[in-house]
Amino acid sequence: MKKKIGFVVAMALVGLALLSTRYYLVDLPVWHFFGGSNGPDPVTLHLRGEFVESNLGAAEGPAGSVTVRMIAQQFVFVPQCIVIPAGVPITFRITSADTVHKLSFMGTNYGLEAAPGVVTEATFTFAKAGEFKIPCQEFCGAGHYAMRGHLDVVPRHQFASLLPGERRTCEPR
Ligand code: CUA
Repeated sequence: MKKKIGFVVAMALVGLALLSTRYYLVDLPVWHFFGGSNGPDPVTLHLRGEFVESNLGAAEGPAGSVTVRMIAQQFVFVPQCIVIPAGVPITFRITSADTVHKLSFMGTNYGLEAAPGVVTEATFTFAKAGEFKIPCQEFCGAGHYAMRGHLDVVPRHQFASLLPGERRTCEPR
């Protein structure tokens, strides 16, 4: 009897291991095959294209427009802390390096889904300066409940202009 239980447990573990590798071996290639290739490849996100590390954070465009680029991944947001000016429309562009995550800016109605192979874009204006926690709202695995970023909204005059290639983040806290 004991042996039988041991066998069942062992098979369950093998099954779990198979399921967890399935994502990279089956799901991702299938995703790419069916047009997922239009978006950024979750596997090479950090290496090339719009979401390389040096391009993440707040960027300033023409006429003072601000774009924030972020990656969500198990179980952090990169960058972990962003700083933006108040009262200015902020365009968020975000993608995921693995599974589906959801950002929400606590204390506001603003939220964004981050999915692998897709860039989600939305524009929000934070009227007043303040600090907002960014908890992940989509169950994404064991570290889900600890997955949170931070948004620092500063008065407009405190947000110094950025040079064309310059990207801004704040110190993680
Ligand atoms: Cu990421 Cu939950």
